[in-house]
Amino acid sequence: MKYQSQKVAYAYFLVAMGLFAIQVMGGLLAGWIYVAPNTLAELVPFNIIRMIHTNALIVWLLLGFFGAAYYLVPEESERELFSVKLAYIQLAILVVGTLGAVGSYLVGIHGGREFLEQPLWVKFGILVAAVIFLVNISLTVLAGRKTAITNILLMGLWLLCLLWVFAFINPDNLSLDKMYWWMVVHLWVEATWELVMAAILGFLMLKLTGVDREVIEKWLYVIVATALFSGILGTGHHFYWIGTPGYWQWIGSIFSTFEVIPFFAMMSFAFLMVWKGRKNHPNKAALLWSLGASTVAFFGAGVWGFLHTLHGVNFYTHGTQITAAHGHLAFYGAYVALNLAMFTYAMPQLKGRAPYNQVLNMASFWLMTGGMAFMTFTLTFAGTIQTHMQRIVGDYFMDVQDQLDLFYLMRFGSGVAVVLGALLFIYAMLVVRREVVEPGPLTVPGE
Ligand code: HEM
Ligand code: HEM
Ligand SMILES: [Fe+2]
Repeated sequence: MKYQSQKVAYAYFLVAMGLFAIQVMGGLLAGWIYVAPNTLAELVPFNIIRMIHTNALIVWLLLGFFGAAYYLVPEESERELFSVKLAYIQLAILVVGTLGAVGSYLVGIHGGREFLEQPLWVKFGILVAAVIFLVNISLTVLAGRKTAITNILLMGLWLLCLLWVFAFINPDNLSLDKMYWWMVVHLWVEATWELVMAAILGFLMLKLTGVDREVIEKWLYVIVATALFSGILGTGHHFYWIGTPGYWQWIGSIFSTFEVIPFFAMMSFAFLMVWKGRKNHPNKAALLWSLGASTVAFFGAGVWGFLHTLHGVNFYTHGTQITAAHGHLAFYGAYVALNLAMFTYAMPQLKGRAPYNQVLNMASFWLMTGGMAFMTFTLTFAGTIQTHMQRIVGDYFMDVQDQLDLFYLMRFGSGVAVVLGALLFIYAMLVVRREVVEPGPLTVPGE
């Protein structure tokens, strides 16, 4: 850590990890309700638990991105953050908003629009926090050295904050409502967040492999160009059945197929940089998470996304467990694992120590990634059977669900592995045992 102001990232990462624990435990509870449907039905119904699970996910991933920006921008721009105080105020607003949202959900107050259920005042809070963030980070970048990494990061973060405005627009017309809703949900994960992912991955590769900046920048431009070219019109794959004109079936099918390219490029990029790199960086766990993130993102988003993106296929699979399988692996690979890669890289630096607890950290990688992979398989099998019985044979929804018991039980089992992996990760990040602290340099030479 070269700049004092980078320290704010530590607070962001701590809150993010707390919410991560809540998120996966919420998921586990939701998974248990699939096994024993009446669990907590009166006290905290399934829809509320699901909301906490998905909202906590989005909020902690965003906190991780904000923290990553506060960590890497000073280093890239070669100057302190514009204002450390503003960064803490922003975090405080987000924490109050999150607690407010969870409190409202528990007493049954919510907007009912998946992922965007937050009460209006919380949405405004998020908007204010986003503005503070953009001001703070932009002024830092403008005053310092400009690199491709910060330019792309900033572009992604500006666009994702601007898209938040669509969260406020909720027309009565159901088709329009859905169109705007997808402009947040899809244009986040399949366009703007991808830019953030590319920038963070680029930064990690720069630090971990020692490959020349020029090489990394060339890759980043290709990734960004293909992500935006495919991802914007790729939104069409959500417009097939919501009452929009039929041409969306072709636009969506064609452009979302191209969306596989940037994910393939990110995976190739990561492996190539490691292969070409001269540096033998001591933080092997951060390298494992970086390679793992780009690989699982390719499978979760690229392969499992393509699986159901052509309109002829989606006609049958829409809204089945196939969707849930894809949603889990894509979010986990692209954004969860990437954030954990950044935490793994930055936390030792923020604490001024050599990389610690690497074996535990790497064990948590395999436990979590194995669990998510198994969950994806069980949900994919469940979804295939569901698609056949429900959409082809024409059986009733609940009758079909009854047939899927075994898969839901196995999904719960894989969820236990994921939760254990997550707790192990947090332990490895936060608890530095005396005997494993090696007397290493405070920062790695050359950083
Ligand atoms: C970091 C890991 C996880 C990520 C990224 C994640 C992500 C998500 C997402 C994006 C959704 C919404 C899916 C959709 O709309 O199709 C969801 C729902 C859900 N998740 Fe997770 N989740 C994770 C961990 C878990 C775990 C450990 C369990 C435990 C079994 C779990 C169980 C569920 C359940 C039951 C739902 C509701 C599905 C439904 O409504 O049918 N998740 N999760
Ligand atoms: C990291 C990137 C991605 C993430 C995090 C992600 C996540 C998700 C989630 C959570 C859903 C469920 C939304 C809902 O109905 O509530 C979804 C739906 C969908 N995703 Fe992705 N996705 C990603 C990339 C992709 C890509 C690249 C493709 C295509 C190649 C794709 C194809 C689809 C399709 C077709 C649906 C609609 C499924 C349906 O009709 O039920 N996704 N995605
Ligand atoms: Fe999409």
